[in-house]
Amino acid sequence: MAQASPLVIFFLVFGSFFATYNLVTMIIHYGSTESVAIDHGTLLFDPITEMPTHVKNPKRSKTPFHVALTATGTTYSKWQCRIMYYWYKKQRNLPGSEMGGFTRILHSGQPDNLMDEIPTIVVDPLPEGQDRGYVVLNRPWAFVQWLEKATIEEEYVLMAEPDHIFLRPLPNLAHGGYPAAFPFFYIEPKKNEKIIRKFYPKKNGPVSNIDQIGNSPVIIKKDLIKKIAPTWMNVSMKMKYDSETDDTFGWVLEMYAYAVASALHGVSHILWKDFMLQPPWDLETTNKYILHYTYGCDYTLKGELTYGKIGEWRFDKRSYEQRPPPRNLSLPPPGVPESVVTLVKMVNEASANLPNWDTL
Ligand SMILES: *[C@@H]1O[C@H](CO)[C@@H](O)[C@H](O)[C@H]1NC(C)=O
Ligand SMILES: *[C@@H]1O[C@H](CO)[C@@H](O)[C@H](O)[C@H]1NC(C)=O
Repeated sequence: MAQASPLVIFFLVFGSFFATYNLVTMIIHYGSTESVAIDHGTLLFDPITEMPTHVKNPKRSKTPFHVALTATGTTYSKWQCRIMYYWYKKQRNLPGSEMGGFTRILHSGQPDNLMDEIPTIVVDPLPEGQDRGYVVLNRPWAFVQWLEKATIEEEYVLMAEPDHIFLRPLPNLAHGGYPAAFPFFYIEPKKNEKIIRKFYPKKNGPVSNIDQIGNSPVIIKKDLIKKIAPTWMNVSMKMKYDSETDDTFGWVLEMYAYAVASALHGVSHILWKDFMLQPPWDLETTNKYILHYTYGCDYTLKGELTYGKIGEWRFDKRSYEQRPPPRNLSLPPPGVPESVVTLVKMVNEASANLPNWDTL
């Protein structure tokens, strides 16, 4: 295997190398009130010259990972968790899967009516007001509490989110002490060097040590995440309480906090482009493992994307904050990318099979 820098090891699941990620200008919505404009740009990754041995050679033994899903007790979180868990159960036992047990880490402080359906542990939210309205800050705190309390059988943990759908059986993409992560184009440590340096001083090394990632999806050794989680929590709070950082990072602050925290512990991640895809920007689910439906999908009836404008046909998770999406959503019109069609079909299959879908 080539002596690739451990800092930027970037390899793909099925052989070919990915060198350039062209970005479209996009508006990313978080919640229904905030939006952030992301500029044009090009990200370059150092391709490595050879697939690592563990990817080339089929593994002889399995290395299961525990699926850990952080969630709130809202209706909005619940229906997404139900779909997520439905697809986990379907993919878990198929060939190629190294998916182990499952825990929903419910950080509302109170049990809810999904306790019997989904294996769940209840942890405390941050004390009132501490999140400064940024509910996502509860995530690192939830992981800290869960890792302290829980007995986890598996050596590895996948940090997952409610709007993730498993498209196929997920193998353990981590390799020993190198966790597996998904490279997010909008996490740009180098571009934000001045801010990053407030939390990652020069003595720790170059800013390029910080991976372009968030905490999810990440498959990581349990002992590593146990070390990183408290730092992640601290860095998140410090970033949130620093107004320049808060203004600059906005809704992705907690992702930067994870990236910085893991670098502070000297942990760098293997970046897998195929780990996840995000409709409507990614068009095909081929070879991808997780479908992340964070962006609204809006189209004309001719199948043209109308992003940012309500489409004649649409699927946007944020349309369903008060109640689950109805069963049997209409499929998109012809011409809409396969990734969006697959998303709707998978939501429909789950809602059709889950009891009390509309009422729970
Ligand atoms: C987190 O911050 C607190 C308060 O500044 C400090 O006492 C603690 O040691 C920090 N923990 C970690 C893991 O950084
Ligand atoms: C789902 O909706 C389509 C029309 O959009 C209808 O033809 C079909 O029968 C429905 N399926 C079920 C199971 O209700």
